[in-house]
Amino acid sequence: MQIHFNESTQVFHLQGKSFSYIMQVKDGLMLHLYWGRKIPLGHHEALHFLPWEGASFDSAHSRWPLEVPTQEKGFFGQQALRVKNGGGDDVVSLRYKTHRIMDGKKGLPGLPSSYVEKDTDAQTLEIDLEDHVSGLLVTLRYTVFAEYDVLARSMLIQNHSADTVTLLDAQTAVRLPADNYEILHLKGGWARERHAKRFAMPEGNFAIKSRRGASGHENNPFLALVHPETTESMGDVYAMTHVYSGSFSAFVDVGIDRAPYMMMGLCSDVFSWQMQNGDVFQAPETLLCYAPDGLNGLSHRMHAFVRRCICRGYWRDRPRPILLNNWEATYFDFNTEKLLKIAALGAQIGCELFVLDDGWFGKRNSDNCSLGDWVVNEDKLPGGLKALAEKINEMGLKMGLWFEPEMVSPDSDLYRAHPDWCLHVDGRERTQARQQLILDLGRKEVQDHIIESISHVLESAPIGYVKWDMNRNMMEGFSAALPAQRKMESQHRYILGLYRVLETITARFPEVLFESCSGGGGRFDCGILHYMPQTWTSDDTDAAERVKIQYGTSLIYPCSSMGAHVSAVPNHQTGRITPFHTRCNVAMGGNFGFELDLNKLNEEDLQCARNAVAMVKKLRTVMQQGDYYRLQNPFLSDGDAAWQFTDGRTVIVCFYRNQAQPNASPRQVKLQGLEEDAVYVDTAHQMTCTGGALMHIGLPVPYAWKDYDSWVYVFEKQ
Ligand code: DGJ
Repeated sequence: MQIHFNESTQVFHLQGKSFSYIMQVKDGLMLHLYWGRKIPLGHHEALHFLPWEGASFDSAHSRWPLEVPTQEKGFFGQQALRVKNGGGDDVVSLRYKTHRIMDGKKGLPGLPSSYVEKDTDAQTLEIDLEDHVSGLLVTLRYTVFAEYDVLARSMLIQNHSADTVTLLDAQTAVRLPADNYEILHLKGGWARERHAKRFAMPEGNFAIKSRRGASGHENNPFLALVHPETTESMGDVYAMTHVYSGSFSAFVDVGIDRAPYMMMGLCSDVFSWQMQNGDVFQAPETLLCYAPDGLNGLSHRMHAFVRRCICRGYWRDRPRPILLNNWEATYFDFNTEKLLKIAALGAQIGCELFVLDDGWFGKRNSDNCSLGDWVVNEDKLPGGLKALAEKINEMGLKMGLWFEPEMVSPDSDLYRAHPDWCLHVDGRERTQARQQLILDLGRKEVQDHIIESISHVLESAPIGYVKWDMNRNMMEGFSAALPAQRKMESQHRYILGLYRVLETITARFPEVLFESCSGGGGRFDCGILHYMPQTWTSDDTDAAERVKIQYGTSLIYPCSSMGAHVSAVPNHQTGRITPFHTRCNVAMGGNFGFELDLNKLNEEDLQCARNAVAMVKKLRTVMQQGDYYRLQNPFLSDGDAAWQFTDGRTVIVCFYRNQAQPNASPRQVKLQGLEEDAVYVDTAHQMTCTGGALMHIGLPVPYAWKDYDSWVYVFEKQ
């Protein structure tokens, strides 16, 4: 890991473990020269593209590979930084001023960001760019990590002009050379989040965005360019993700030179920020990951980074407990007796945590009331949470609890007391979704109220886990507390407020395991993972659908960040019936749990549940912390999928059949990342094979006599 500056060539060369990122100051402009496979220092200057300065309809400036493209001198592409100056124009002429190289990495005020524990673990470069006319000062930050192969970038904007400047857009941009690319991103909707989509890069502007006030189910803040020949195990990958949980946009913008700019940042449809003289605005961090060795290479780098440099706290490296959640078992229809009966059987088969989901507070017996009234309903739970949690603890289980703290039901004491505390536009309908409104977390008094009311509950009973839900997106997403000229700040102020609330509560209860949720995986991003190390991956618990969701999610998010539960059949989202062992085998691809009434299982399935629990306990370190390889892609072919976990000794392979086929051709799945000459033994299947054989011949997949069958193999290196 090194950041080098060559005084004579004015070249910055950032070297990660396997990437180089190179910039140059030329005539005051900050140019981007290279991002890709690591190259040696020096002796490359002669190779970089210089724009043709001869006669052309387009200006030379518009063809420079700019590190921060802005509106000036005929740059007509997507701008990374856009402002409205005091005079009403939007010209920004950023020129190099100075730079600093330092050990370590500072946090970003008010925002989540990647971190290191020691200054020797990272190096940071700060480059100041200045607009001499307006006085705008932009500081670009780049951090290279010693042990992790990711580049962290962010941008700080300061208004040193006498006028008020309105910030309209702030994106992290990187320009790649003209080449043959494909776009890869994660698309979806509620209950079908993060399906991997890959297609030829168009010559034009490709955009994904969320203006929902959350990163959202529809588009994940992840974007990659790959070459057509890139596979899971080989080829270049250039990927970006956002350490932010609110609205975002990401672009691939192909200009006249056919060189794409990749960008990611705040969503300008729902964002602007007024900056008075002296004001400073910190844009969220973006992570850039280059992999020379395919999509599994990307995932290895991102998984390790997210686990150790994004997630924090007590649970960061600890095995995650096997949980039993009552939501799909009971929905709102429960009482103490019913809950204890479910929990007792959970304890008997080896579960470690019982989670009481929605419906324990106020008078909430359906989703039409009481959000905001975080007071236990003693009609349902006599003696309150303490009595229940103590009984659960006596069974040997920890007690977990669901909250939806950012929301308010119109039918609630909180709303009756503070009708102005929700996001809304005066004079317009307050559009409800799931019969609820969103509290204005941009307001300090609202943040404080949430902090105190949630803390009060957590102090009242031995609660070891919190599921933090958020079940709607912003519609009239404006704060009543902001003046007209600042209304477009509402969404970002909300996210900053949310981060303050999360920072405070997670620090107050450091040993509580927090799991985020937003109607399943509607806020699955590195911003939220900084506070809560795991996310409920999707409300879709159907095993066949989950294979696709978990497969796509795994592109950048580690298995330790994905909640995955075994539920009842017919499945509540699809009506599909899948075998019990397959539901278990799929849930083992994340933080394993159950979300059904175990008492309703027959003896065979209950035994299967017991076996799965025992297996997860034995192998979860490998599954949650080991290297993960995608072996067969369910988005291609016939929906069959396979993945593999390994810690170097133990190798776990999971294969999922989608639909059985008559007279099907025999199949082999080729393993990855093993030692060619080492011998691996799967005692249960009586198989002894070399690593080379498993990787090049492949593991024969059994013939399936039924749909949705699945198999798990566990090899030990001898
Ligand atoms: C949405 C979540 O995704 C579900 O798991 C459940 O917690 C419900 N909310 C409860 O209302």
